[in-house]
Amino acid sequence: MEKVQLNTTKSALTGEITVPGDKSISHRAVIFGSLAKGTTTITHFLDGEDCLTTIKAFQAMGVRVEQKEDKVVIQSDGIAGLKEPFMPIDLGNSGTTARLLLGVLAGLPFHTTLFGDQSLTIRPMDRIRDPLLEMGAQIDGRNNGSYLPIAVRGQSLTGITFYPPVKSAQVKSGVLLAGLLANGETSVIETTKTRDHTENMLTAFGGEIAVEGNKVTVQGKQSLTGTEIEVPGDISSAAFFIVAALLVPGSELTIKNVGLNPTRTGLLDVLQEMKADLSITETKRMGGESIGDIKIKYSELIGADVAGDVIPRMIDELPILALLATQAKGKTVIRDAEELRYKETDRIASVVNILNTLGGKVEATKDGMIIEGETPLSGGQADSDGDHRLGMMIAIASLICQDEVILTNADAIKISYPGFFEDLATLQSN
Ligand code: S3P
Repeated sequence: MEKVQLNTTKSALTGEITVPGDKSISHRAVIFGSLAKGTTTITHFLDGEDCLTTIKAFQAMGVRVEQKEDKVVIQSDGIAGLKEPFMPIDLGNSGTTARLLLGVLAGLPFHTTLFGDQSLTIRPMDRIRDPLLEMGAQIDGRNNGSYLPIAVRGQSLTGITFYPPVKSAQVKSGVLLAGLLANGETSVIETTKTRDHTENMLTAFGGEIAVEGNKVTVQGKQSLTGTEIEVPGDISSAAFFIVAALLVPGSELTIKNVGLNPTRTGLLDVLQEMKADLSITETKRMGGESIGDIKIKYSELIGADVAGDVIPRMIDELPILALLATQAKGKTVIRDAEELRYKETDRIASVVNILNTLGGKVEATKDGMIIEGETPLSGGQADSDGDHRLGMMIAIASLICQDEVILTNADAIKISYPGFFEDLATLQSN
């Protein structure tokens, strides 16, 4: 358990930075690169533990993947070239790998067993199991395959029309991937549009997909061709420095080449409502993704009501928004976010517990939290509980705590942002 004493410097964050590649897009680039025939080159790949898990899973199925820091080269013979792995596949902490891979494995002609770490082992898999069973998949595991470890015996699948009961891009993507291998047509019809990187990437690999509003349809038995993917900076990682700049007086920061896909920019909309001094410039479009720069300055903020369709567009940013809200004038209420309870930790319980430990006034509700601002934070010892986003939230909190902050289980940050502390130090030394 790595223990880190934070709070050594409270300097403003200034200058320019690029953050590591987007986690969701990095996973998908490896998955599609492995399913596609030929060579795929990925640049600005996220060299974090979760995405390395996806690489190892496909290597276990015989795909040739070479990775050096943020460059990945995949050589694959396509779907028909994938082979039965000898050993059970370890998915570590990665929920995205689990849900998306289940979709792929359900339609491949062999047997696979998947397991994960303690956190992943208690995360729900029935949300992806159910539509896959409807497509004809053979899945078994703990509690009938509701939880890992799970064994899949690949089958010939049939396309379905699926109305997801939970707002989840992982589930949508898992079903679309299974649909790609299935006979016939598969449609996913969402009530609220979740991140659409799978849809964008399928097109980039030469696949066909029809999107009409919240309905996405793929034809089965498509073959894909290797391509070049440049991964944009992860807005979910940028979020920590955006909030840090808003919190620490004197900060003025530019984050370059960040993914600005509208299904991911809910945080920016909420920050504007909270009166943040922020400007966004789109600089390019690539592979269906919008990319640009975000400029951010220290600002005095007001609380906000955060609920409804914006929630899936900022689901991973809600912990860091909660920290920010402790320093905004008035109350911030987060609702419609029960999904937070099924993340790497129960992020409603854990965020409330951490912020209150540090001196905040935060109350948990069934589907969110109520945060009282402006509440000065004192400090104390806080544990990431193995959740990378909580680790980074605690680190950013230390910048505004009056006393010392000790972060335990700091190692978890490597899951999505291995160079986080180095980048923070750079921004503070400019
Ligand atoms: C992700 C979707 C979200 C998000 C996760 C990554 C993805 O999960 O929280 O970090 O890459 O599709 P859900 O689909 O469970 O909401």
